[in-house]
Parts: sequence; C-alpha cells; structure tokens
Amino acid sequence: MRFAGNGLTCQSCHLQAGTQRYGLPLAGVWGVFPQYIGREDEVRTLEERVNGCMERSMNGRSLPVDGDEMKAILAYIRYISGPQQVGRSLEGRGAPPIPLPTRAADPEHGRQVYASVCSTCHGADGQGQRLEAAEAVEQGKRYQFPPLWGPDSYNNGAGMARTITAARFVHANMPLGTTFEQPQISGDDAYDVMAFVNSQPRPERRNLDQDYPDLSRKPVDAGYAPFVGPFPPDQHRFGPWQPIQEWLRANAEDVRSTGRQHAQ
Ligand code: HEC
Ligand code: HEC
Repeated sequence: MRFAGNGLTCQSCHLQAGTQRYGLPLAGVWGVFPQYIGREDEVRTLEERVNGCMERSMNGRSLPVDGDEMKAILAYIRYISGPQQVGRSLEGRGAPPIPLPTRAADPEHGRQVYASVCSTCHGADGQGQRLEAAEAVEQGKRYQFPPLWGPDSYNNGAGMARTITAARFVHANMPLGTTFEQPQISGDDAYDVMAFVNSQPRPERRNLDQDYPDLSRKPVDAGYAPFVGPFPPDQHRFGPWQPIQEWLRANAEDVRSTGRQHAQ
C-alpha cells in the first residue's frame, strides 16, 4: 500500500537525509518529543508529528503507528539523533528566522525571482524534473528535482504552504547546496518567491477549519480560514504580518476565552 499521496520524499524538505543544520533537521528531534503542538492544541508524540507530515507535506495518509514503516522512520530518527541529544533540541533545528518585511510580500516580483533562480531545477512550470523509471527505483524517489506546486506537491495545510516558514527554509537552503551561513538570495526575495510559489495551485486538504482549536495559537501566516482578527485573508498569506502579531498579542486572552467568535 502506498501512503504518500505525492511525489515528494521526507528528504525533499528534511535535507541531507534529515541531518542538515537549519535544513529542517530530524537529527535531534528524538529527544524532544512528546511535545505540545498548537495545530492540535495537544501534546503529541513523535509518531503523531511524523503523521502530520504524512497527511500534509506528503499529501497522503497516516502510517499505522505500530506498522513497519513507522517503526523504520522512528528507528532512523533515533539513530541520527544520537544518545547525546536526548532531551534537548539539536542546535540548528527548523530553519533560522529572518526579519519580516515591513511591506506585503510581492508574488509578482517572486515570479521573476523564480524564473531567474529556481526554474533551472524546479522547472518553468514548477513541476520539477522526474527521474526515469529505472533510476527512480534505484534511488527510491520519483524526482531528481521535486515539484513546488501542482498535484505532486505538498497540500495547502502543510508547513511549507505558510509563507514565513517557507521563506526561512528557502533563504537558508536554496538553491540546493546553500547553507544558512551563506544565503544566496535576500530575505525579501525569499518571501516574494514563496508568496509566488504558494499562490499556485496545489492539493487541497479537507477540514482545515478544524486546525488550531485554540485560535490564539494559529500562526499569523496560515493561509486558510478561520482567520483571526480583522485582517483580510491576503494579509495572512502575504503580510505585512506585524500588525496581526500585535493584534494577537493584545487580544490573545480574549480569543482564547471567546473561542471562534473572533474568527472570519
Ligand atoms: C514539503 C516539505 C516536507 C516534507 C516532504 C516532509 N516534511 Fe516534515 N516538516 C516540514 C516542515 C516545514 C516542518 C516544520 C518545521 C518547523 O516547525 O520549523 C516539519 C516538521 C517535521 C517534524 C518535527 C521536527 C521538529 O523539529 O519538531 C518531523 C518529525 C517531521 N517533519 C518528519 C517528517 C517525515 C518523517 C517526513 C516523510 C514521511 C516528512 N517530515 C516530510 C516539511 C516537510
Ligand atoms: C540546483 C538545483 C536547485 C535550485 C536552483 C533550487 N532548488 Fe529547491 N530543491 C532542489 C532539490 C534537489 C530539492 C530536494 C532536496 C533533495 O532532494 O535533496 C529542493 C527542495 C526544495 C523545496 C522543498 C521541497 C518541495 O518540493 O517543496 C522547496 C520549497 C524549494 N526547493 C524551493 C526552491 C526555491 C524557491 C528556489 C529558488 C530560490 C529553489 N528551490 C532553487 C534543487 C534546487
């Protein structure tokens, strides 16, 4: 049975087999789960977190928690985490923050950045570059360069579909071979290009309105309803995000206690 629903692998985003600092590493995460996750407003196990990526980043289905695939993924994460890491985060977790632009991200300018910097690998049409069937089997992946939008990409509920998260990843890691010490595009270009990429069609996940039972925990750049506060949906998608952050800081208590009344 195939659980993934698209053409990506874990390594498409968790770079260097999950070992790259600030390339969304999985090395080190063994010791820090179970952990509170705002999307469900619950403490979640590492298995549940992996399944979050299965259903969103991989646009697929959850792996059975005691099945062979899940056991293999957990054994691997444990192995690359090493005994010294248990109980604390690896330095270089996630992707490093970059300053928020003071203007809205500009998808039209992002289109130009995409054409000049990204399209050589990810394709002018964003569909990546597929491997020949024999190579795909040998390498255990379908794409030489993964698609950034379209049916084989991550869905609209994925972390990469949020412009702030995506811009941090791209700034520190793209074009492939970039490291966070020597970014190759500016922070503002990273926001613009991922605003463009995330405006393109991609698989849609159902029931996203059930995410974030406590709406005060919803990231300001989540691009789907319900939106908290008096800001238009496009401001959540493209910014500027500072006014939303300030509004949330001032109203978090109220949003928590009155629940979804504040939502649009
Ligand atoms: C489209 C990109 C993408 C793909 C593909 C993907 N992930 Fe993720 N994953 C993310 C993002 C983005 C995060 C959130 C990182 C953050 O919070 O800073 C994440 C977080 C995680 C975390 C938690 C990491 C932490 O530091 O807390 C785990 C574990 C994880 N993914 C496992 C997997 C596994 C296993 C696969 C393959 C089955 C996978 N992911 C596929 C993008 C992806
Ligand atoms: C030299 C080729 C190359 C260039 C240029 C490049 N990428 Fe990538 N990109 C890759 C590869 C390869 C991966 C998957 C990592 C792996 O397989 O090791 C990837 C992964 C990604 C991912 C996560 C996986 C996915 O499919 O969603 C995003 C997002 C991304 N790139 C965005 C960009 C953006 C934006 C640019 C331009 C600023 C860019 N890349 C430039 C090769 C490239």
